[in-house]
Parts: sequence; structure tokens; C-alpha cells
Amino acid sequence: MTVAVVSVALMAGKMATPAVATDMNDSAEASSSEEAKKHWGKPEKRKRAGLWRDGKAVFSDIQLIDTLGLLKYARGYKPEQPINFSHVIHVQKNNMECTYCHSGVNKSPYATIPAVDTCMGCHKLVKTESEEIKKLTEYYEKGEPVPWEPVHHLPEHVYFTHERHIKAGIGCQNCHGQVQEMEKVEKASSLKMGFCVSCHRENGASIDCAVCHQ
Ligand code: HEC
Ligand code: HEC
Ligand code: HEC
Ligand code: HEC
Ligand code: HEC
Repeated sequence: MTVAVVSVALMAGKMATPAVATDMNDSAEASSSEEAKKHWGKPEKRKRAGLWRDGKAVFSDIQLIDTLGLLKYARGYKPEQPINFSHVIHVQKNNMECTYCHSGVNKSPYATIPAVDTCMGCHKLVKTESEEIKKLTEYYEKGEPVPWEPVHHLPEHVYFTHERHIKAGIGCQNCHGQVQEMEKVEKASSLKMGFCVSCHRENGASIDCAVCHQ
């Protein structure tokens, strides 16, 4: 296992970085994007996983894999979360809309993760005795965001926007799978270039390199 991981890692390390610009400041969406980034943060600005967390090692914490970013780009990536949040309870059992919590999704590049305030709108009253809700309340009282571990990562050289896809009527499940059935969110599709481009071909959307590599 370790040997296989290391050799894949070495191969990945050798791959050339594409000569594409990543500056998207000219885009009209830049300001809402900046705001969303502040809210959600990009992976490298967030706290890196250490080898141990709360006294237990999780697979994604193995430094080599984490540093090389191999696992987080893989399909099936399913990181531990600081609070056991379930989409089944909220979406399936309580019929909440995705946009109630991911409010940026139809108006900005980023879907955004809800602030603790959004959760506390209900959890000041709902299930206050639960251990998980007590953890949530602690973040709320300290005025800190919950340090959710991102599940999806696109390399910095790729430009993606939710808004255009949602406005074109593409359902979340096309890219994220059956999130409403996930007790813990996992990455359902590779989000590799081939995945994006084949849908663009099928739907007559642009496959011009500059669309995704601005
Ligand atoms: C009650 C609020 C709430 C609702 C409703 C909700 N989500 Fe979420 N969602 C969250 C929270 C909190 C996270 C971060 C924790 C996690 O990954 O489980 C999250 C994470 C995600 C992620 C992973 C994001 C990433 O890359 O880290 C996806 C994808 C997602 N939600 C899609 C959906 C879809 C699709 C729906 C509707 C079917 C939905 N969510 C409804 C709160 C919600
Ligand atoms: C066409 C594919 C596609 C569709 C459709 C899509 N997403 Fe995403 N989503 C992505 C990609 C790609 C990322 C990673 C973006 C990044 O790393 O910059 C992502 C990231 C996310 C995230 C975490 C980061 C963020 O953007 O704040 C959430 C939450 C999310 N999506 C929710 C949703 C919800 C809810 C829907 C439906 C209303 C949806 N997505 C529809 C491809 C898609
Ligand atoms: C619209 C109201 C509403 C919002 C907003 C909401 N929840 Fe919930 N949540 C519920 C309900 C209802 C339950 C199920 C309670 C039950 O089992 O009786 C629940 C259950 C939970 C549980 C399981 C508690 C347990 O131990 O059984 C957790 C954890 C949780 N929510 C976290 C969150 C987080 C984190 C957010 C914000 C991202 C959030 N909730 C937003 C209504 C809400
Ligand atoms: C399920 C189908 C589907 C998938 C998967 C998909 N797209 Fe799209 N995408 C579309 C469609 C359809 C449009 C055109 C929307 C419109 O006409 O406004 C589009 C538009 C776009 C645009 C705006 C294009 C423009 O002309 O300005 C970008 C950028 C984009 N997609 C990037 C991506 C990236 C990056 C991925 C992979 C992570 C991806 N898309 C995956 C269907 C898809
Ligand atoms: C619809 C969106 C989309 C279009 C169009 C697109 N790409 Fe990509 N590209 C991606 C995504 C997403 C990734 C990152 C995922 C991956 O590594 O496959 C990527 C990665 C790459 C990489 C890095 C590959 C690697 O292994 O690190 C190169 C080089 C590249 N693209 C070149 C191009 C060229 C040249 C074109 C035009 C012929 C193009 N792309 C068109 C979405 C797109």
C-alpha cells in the first residue's frame, strides 16, 4: 500500500503545471467571489490537518498523502467533520432546500457553507441536549466558525462557477451525487477535466480552454 502510494505520488509530482493564468480579478464576479472565498476560504488558507486530531488518527491525516494532496482530489474522499452533520436528517427528513444553507449557489461562483448563525436559528431550540449540538453551541458562543473540512477541491488553475450551472438548470446531483442520502458527505465524481468537458460537449456548452482556465 505505502509503496503504491509513494510511486503514484512521485508520478503526480512530475506532472507539469499548465501554463494558464489564474488571475480572475477582471471578472465581473470577482467581488462576490472574494466575499464567498472569505466566508468559505480556500483549502490552503485553512488549518492543515495534523497527524492527530482529538487523539485519533484519521486516514486523511497521514502527512504524505495530505501534503501531496492526493487523497483530497480522489473520488470517494470522505473526510471526518468536526460535527456529525447529516444531510439525510436535514434534507430528506426535514425537507430543507439546498439553497437554505448553500445560499451562494445560484448567485455566485461559490455555493458557500452556512454560518453557525444559520444552524442556531433552529438549534437554539432543537435537540439542545445532544452532544453534537452542544459542540455547535460552543462555536456559536465563542463566535467562531465551525472548521468544516472541505470535501471538494479544484486546483487553483481551474475556474468554476456554480451560478451558471444552476441557472442552466443543472441539478446538484449531476456533480455531487445523492447528497440527500449521505450521512457524511463524500466526493461522488472525480471532477477531473474529462468529467467537465464531456458534459459540456453533450450540452453544447463551450469547451474553449479559456473558459475553465482563465
Ligand atoms: C441545514 C443546512 C444544509 C442543507 C439544507 C444542505 N446542506 Fe450541504 N452542507 C451543509 C454543511 C454544514 C456542510 C459542511 C459539512 C459537511 O460536509 O457535511 C455541507 C456540505 C455540502 C457539500 C460538500 C461541500 C464541500 O466540498 O466541502 C455538498 C456538495 C453539499 N453540502 C450539497 C448539498 C446539497 C446538494 C443539498 C440539497 C440536496 C444540501 N447540501 C443541503 C449544510 C446543508
Ligand atoms: C456542474 C457541476 C456542479 C453542480 C451542478 C453543482 N456543483 Fe457544487 N461544486 C462543484 C465543484 C467543481 C466544486 C468545487 C469548487 C472549488 O473547489 O472551487 C463544488 C463545490 C461545492 C461546495 C463547497 C464549496 C463552495 O462552493 O462553497 C458546496 C457546498 C456545493 N458545491 C454545493 C452545491 C449545491 C447545493 C448544488 C446544487 C444547488 C451544487 N453544488 C451544484 C460542482 C458542481
Ligand atoms: C430549519 C431548522 C434546522 C436548521 C437550520 C438546522 N437544523 Fe440541525 N436539525 C434540525 C432537526 C429538526 C433535527 C432533527 C432533530 C430530531 O432528531 O428530533 C436536526 C438534527 C441535527 C443534528 C443531530 C442531533 C442529534 O444528536 O440527533 C445535528 C448534529 C445538526 N442538526 C446540526 C446542524 C448544523 C450543523 C446546522 C447548520 C449547518 C443545522 N443543524 C441546521 C433542524 C435544523
Ligand atoms: C452536468 C453537465 C456539466 C458538468 C459536469 C460541468 N458543466 Fe460547466 N457548464 C455546463 C453547461 C450546460 C454550461 C452552459 C451554461 C449556460 O449556457 O449558461 C456550463 C458552463 C460553464 C462555464 C461558463 C462558460 C462560459 O461560456 O462562460 C464554466 C466556466 C464551466 N461550465 C466550468 C465547468 C467546470 C470547471 C466543470 C468541472 C468541474 C464543469 N463546468 C462541469 C454543464 C456542465
Ligand atoms: C469545462 C472545463 C474545462 C475545459 C474546457 C478545459 N479544461 Fe483543462 N482542466 C479542467 C479541470 C477541472 C482540470 C483539473 C482536474 C484535472 O486534473 O483533470 C483541468 C486540468 C488541466 C490541466 C492540468 C492537467 C494535470 O494533469 O495536472 C491542463 C494542462 C489542462 N487542463 C489544459 C487544458 C487545455 C489545453 C484545454 C483546451 C483544449 C482545457 N484544459 C480545457 C477543466 C477544463
